[in-house]
Amino acid sequence: MGRGRSLPRAAALRLAGLLCTAGILLGPGAAATGMGEGFRRPSGDGMNVLFIVSDDLRPALGCYGDLVVKSPNIDQLASRSVVFQNAFAQQAVCAPSRVSFLTGRRPDTTRLYDVHSYWRVHAGNYSTLPQYFKENGYTTMSVGKVFHPGISSNHSDDYPYSWSVPPFHPSSEKYENTKVCKGKDGQLHANLLCPVDVAEMPEGTLPDIQSTEEAIRLLKMMKENNSKFFLAVGYHKPHIPFRYPQEFLKLYPMESITLAPDPDVPKGLPSVAYNPWTDIRHRDDVQALNISFPYGPIPEDFQRQIRQNYFASVSYLDMLVGKLLNALDDTGFSNNTIVVFTADHGWSLGEHGEWAKYSNFDIATRVPLMFYVPGMTAPLSHPRDRLFPFIDLFAQVSKPLPQGEPKEMVELVSLFPTLAELAGLSVPPPCPKTSFRISLCTEGQSMVRYFPSAKGGHESSDDEGKPHRPPIAFSQYPRPSDTPQLNSDLPLLKDIRVMGYSMRTAYYRCTLWLGFNPSNFSVDWNDVHAGELYFAESDPNQDHNIYRSKTHGHLTKKLCRILEH
Ligand SMILES: *[C@@H]1O[C@H](CO)[C@@H](O)[C@H](O)[C@H]1NC(C)=O
Ligand SMILES: *[C@@H]1O[C@H](CO)[C@@H](O)[C@H](O)[C@H]1NC(C)=O
Ligand SMILES: *[C@@H]1O[C@H](CO)[C@@H](O)[C@H](O)[C@H]1NC(C)=O
Ligand SMILES: *[C@@H]1O[C@H](CO)[C@@H](O)[C@H](O)[C@H]1NC(C)=O
Ligand SMILES: *[C@@H]1O[C@H](CO)[C@@H](O)[C@H](O)[C@H]1NC(C)=O
Ligand SMILES: *[C@@H]1O[C@H](CO)[C@@H](O)[C@H](O)[C@H]1NC(C)=O
Repeated sequence: MGRGRSLPRAAALRLAGLLCTAGILLGPGAAATGMGEGFRRPSGDGMNVLFIVSDDLRPALGCYGDLVVKSPNIDQLASRSVVFQNAFAQQAVCAPSRVSFLTGRRPDTTRLYDVHSYWRVHAGNYSTLPQYFKENGYTTMSVGKVFHPGISSNHSDDYPYSWSVPPFHPSSEKYENTKVCKGKDGQLHANLLCPVDVAEMPEGTLPDIQSTEEAIRLLKMMKENNSKFFLAVGYHKPHIPFRYPQEFLKLYPMESITLAPDPDVPKGLPSVAYNPWTDIRHRDDVQALNISFPYGPIPEDFQRQIRQNYFASVSYLDMLVGKLLNALDDTGFSNNTIVVFTADHGWSLGEHGEWAKYSNFDIATRVPLMFYVPGMTAPLSHPRDRLFPFIDLFAQVSKPLPQGEPKEMVELVSLFPTLAELAGLSVPPPCPKTSFRISLCTEGQSMVRYFPSAKGGHESSDDEGKPHRPPIAFSQYPRPSDTPQLNSDLPLLKDIRVMGYSMRTAYYRCTLWLGFNPSNFSVDWNDVHAGELYFAESDPNQDHNIYRSKTHGHLTKKLCRILEH
């Protein structure tokens, strides 16, 4: 990855022939390949896209089997969608992950590991996913946090390249980190835990409420404009601070909240792998706890409160997603709009004694990912059918089942080719070994072949019958040193000394922490600072690192070798 050819690229090259055709869904095989009764083929071109991305959301959702979290509206979307069970972000922090999936390139190609550079200037003038839709005749619009704000998107969310109209940011966003949370002392603080009375907030609203209103306004406008659209809606929650309407706390009585199943820092965890959750520590209410750096721990009752507030923030997000999807019904777009729901990365809620993202563990890299494709993942509806009626979270609801649950390991870097294929646009070609000078190519590969209704046709047409390798998801995370420092969570490029390259297969996760030189982006594969190996079946929470285990010694080398390519 850092140096030579990466496997995903190699595999992508093999798939090149398969992917290049526009409107592959319309191929002669499609009708005969399991699109059941009532399923008509999507019209390919003509489909709009509603791209919903949440911030720091691990798959803590009913449709992913979470028994605590109440998310009936996202579950309802899932019931009409293909829901990927094993989708992973390429780096578990906002800007690098977003720039990666929005350009379809890995962090080693965007060269963005922190939040301080703009890829067009710093790495290469790569086209983006929305830009590609824009250049193919779509009206592209951004609402809320889609690109990470700041220099990583040139202070403009990459406008005008990516968007037809200037991106929308909610005006109340500026209060996120100000003292607006009422503490036990009756004073206002900049707290981590911040359930609020919305009417008492500055401007009487919250950022995600404003973004939902704007997105609905744009949907109504597009009804008049008669143009295909790509509408990206970026929600701020459940990112910290947990500032959300306080009624959602009622959904999670404290008695029902447990600690993480593995709340201690595992004995075999290399210190370079550990993230010391510094952004959590900075909040007023956490500072008052006087928690020791770097390992804590956070007092148990406060751990439970963090989990409770995270879940309540997810339910608040679910309510807003419900309103947005309801508006898709209202505007008559439910039958010709592809809906994607995902997140930029996951979040640790005390697992391994860690909080927040900033690591290579599944808990930080795994994300929800679902695609609703009219006529493909659900039957084409009649105009007056309501596919997404709003569901009241405070009423008892039964959980509908997802339409398909591919278990293959997939990566967010593949969103770009997947959406291109679903919309009937030609799929960007796979990137060659080095692609800094190429504006349009992708390091991902379309996931459409894993869609249950698309299967047979695509697999049989796989290039000259060669079996393709089982899919692997790659992630990476940089560190400034081998032991946790104040900047370990998000080191500046110039401070990076170690890069953790990680691969997740169906059977295991292997991570190698390697010497890294930020002046020329070189990785020294002979300079192994630490390694991690976890088997998925016997150790799903990744608490027992067997990288150095004598019984597995030779196996380790073999299993992790793929990373080197
Ligand atoms: C970068 O790409 C954009 C659009 O793809 C193009 O308009 C612009 O001129 C390019 N910039 C450079 C410096 O090549
Ligand atoms: C970034 O934004 C600045 C200020 O608007 C602009 O002058 C510059 O051309 C932009 N960079 C690119 C690569 O478009
Ligand atoms: C939609 O059409 C209206 C009226 O023509 C125009 O003002 C607006 O800019 C258009 N919106 C987009 C996103 O193209
Ligand atoms: C915070 O904890 C340190 C030891 O970890 C202790 O020395 C110090 O007195 C504590 N401060 C407060 C305000 O409790
Ligand atoms: C979707 O519904 C609209 C009416 O709301 C109808 O005009 C259109 O033909 C339908 N599209 C498809 C693909 O069924
Ligand atoms: C990167 O720079 C370091 C020291 O500046 C040097 O030792 C190393 O060989 C360089 N690597 C490459 C691939 O150029």
